[in-house]
Amino acid sequence: MSPLTRVGIVGAGNVAARHADVLSGFPDVQIAGIADTDLSKAESLAAKHGSPAYGSHADLLSAGGLDAVYVCVPPFAHGSAELDVLSCDLPLFVEKPLSLDLETAESIATEIERRSLPSAVGHHWRYLGILDQARELLEGRPVRLALGHWLDKVPPVAWWLRQDRSGGQIVEQAVHVLDLARVLVGEVAMVHAVPAENTAEGEVDRATAAVMRFAGGAAGLLATSCLLSQKHRVGLEVCAEGIALELTETRLLVDGERVIEDDGRAKTRVDREFIDAVQGKDADVRSTYREALRTHRLALALARSAAERRPVMLDE
Ligand SMILES: NC(=O)c1ccc[n+]([C@@H]2O[C@H](COP(=O)([O-])OP(=O)(O)OC[C@H]3O[C@@H](n4cnc5c(N)ncnc54)[C@H](O)[C@@H]3O)[C@@H](O)[C@H]2O)c1
Repeated sequence: MSPLTRVGIVGAGNVAARHADVLSGFPDVQIAGIADTDLSKAESLAAKHGSPAYGSHADLLSAGGLDAVYVCVPPFAHGSAELDVLSCDLPLFVEKPLSLDLETAESIATEIERRSLPSAVGHHWRYLGILDQARELLEGRPVRLALGHWLDKVPPVAWWLRQDRSGGQIVEQAVHVLDLARVLVGEVAMVHAVPAENTAEGEVDRATAAVMRFAGGAAGLLATSCLLSQKHRVGLEVCAEGIALELTETRLLVDGERVIEDDGRAKTRVDREFIDAVQGKDADVRSTYREALRTHRLALALARSAAERRPVMLDE
């Protein structure tokens, strides 16, 4: 490997721009190429980072010289990019959600493991400094109740409102909160999601309430809505013996009184740890592809429960 770790990026939208900015700030990383099926988007992001642009991930991979690839495409577009990256024996960073279905993500996870390649997923909440503090505060006190929320506006991307493009709000957004719940509470055994009646054919549910039973015995609730004109409430509350914590992406509230602000470095750490893994260093990758697949399975179970109007057991 050259002294610079050469990263390719597939998909040149909002989140790719964020990763490209973070990666460009690392002295040992070079953005070696950016691909998007909309070539003009690849060109505009590539111009900012002084790298070549390509109209497909296949062209990016054919150009060669890469040490790792970020796949930052919308939910419906996952699959061939990841498998082609892996067929080049390259480490893979994938943005959540992993896919619309379970099979695509499972085949990618299997291939990553077959080739023993480093992987990471953009669950950057795992790197919040306040998450470490929450875990310390909960030491020896199992969580008995978890309340997750994602009450927000519709994100400004054209594909988001279509169920068959985004997978819906739980899979696309609340998956961050579900991932946090898995870290603080553990695995979920049963979910029952109830969507508010939908008005537009083919659109995502605009509001959903769900009950969850954790394998360790804790109870959970999840509420999502994209009916709002701005972000209202996004995060996770947990209750354990004698303590209540509320985590958002920016702060931890302890017992409704004490506020601990996050250090704001999670979105840098998620990239740094992956790059360290690519470089063969002892890296703290907190969400490998296999680990993210467990959260994805939970999100898909909730989506299925809402669609089928029935409880779903996670081992089904
Ligand atoms: N972890 C986070 O905090 C975070 C934040 C924002 C978005 N995301 C996730 O990142 C993904 C992308 O979101 P976004 O806001 O960047 O979307 P976007 O629409 O802004 O960008 C996606 C880009 O991918 C391109 N694309 C589509 N199919 C492609 C393909 N097969 N090959 C190459 N390029 C392709 C599109 O042309 C588009 O430019 C979503 O799944 C979203 O949930 C994660």
